[in-house]
Amino acid sequence: MTHTPRQADYWQAVYDEGNPGWDKGAPAPPLQRVLAHVAPPAGTTALVPGCGFGHEALMLARIGYQVTAVDFALAAIAGLQARAGDLPVKAVQADLFGLADAYPEAFDLVVEHTCFCAIPVEMRDEYARVMARVLRAEGQFLGLFYETERESGPPFRTTREDVERHFSPHFEIRQISRPPDSFAGREDREWLALMRKKSDG
Ligand SMILES: C[S@@+](CC[C@H](N)C(=O)[O-])C[C@H]1O[C@@H](n2cnc3c(N)ncnc32)[C@H](O)[C@@H]1O
Repeated sequence: MTHTPRQADYWQAVYDEGNPGWDKGAPAPPLQRVLAHVAPPAGTTALVPGCGFGHEALMLARIGYQVTAVDFALAAIAGLQARAGDLPVKAVQADLFGLADAYPEAFDLVVEHTCFCAIPVEMRDEYARVMARVLRAEGQFLGLFYETERESGPPFRTTREDVERHFSPHFEIRQISRPPDSFAGREDREWLALMRKKSDG
């Protein structure tokens, strides 16, 4: 059987090999910096797509968000559950491309970290569309995008232009910049983007 990155089996196999290369064991510092200093109003909901072991999801729960974290690899969801303790994170094993139907306009915030680069390029328009559909009116999308020129991934080609092109039909891109506090080894290889869902997005 052939596994492709569009299938959970592909990612599960990477987890099964142990020590997935992207996992840093902690939430990404740029996302912590942007999010951690302000507690959200009670009941604010957040989605983390392609959550992996869920370091960002757990950070959001600690800050006070009601968090739903989604990954289609069982090992990712099991890893998140093992780390969650009493934190209120809903860990969902699902293909993120089904989220628009499962969670229409359900979230105030989406936070992604190295998910877009895991999505085959031909699926990116749909990815951005789904992210807009799960957000409430004027919902925010905060993404930390791993930059690469590689065509054959994952990680698949991700440039600033790719991010702008795929998200701009649905989102107003309010800010996109190089974060000063990337993990070691990812300096000058990331884009931090804050976007707001367009009223017609
Ligand atoms: C590069 S990893 C990043 C994990 C995590 N965000 C992090 O930064 O540690 C990409 C994750 O996205 C998940 N993923 C890829 N395509 C997916 C899809 N269509 N639906 C749900 N999860 C997906 C993979 O299983 C994997 O856990």
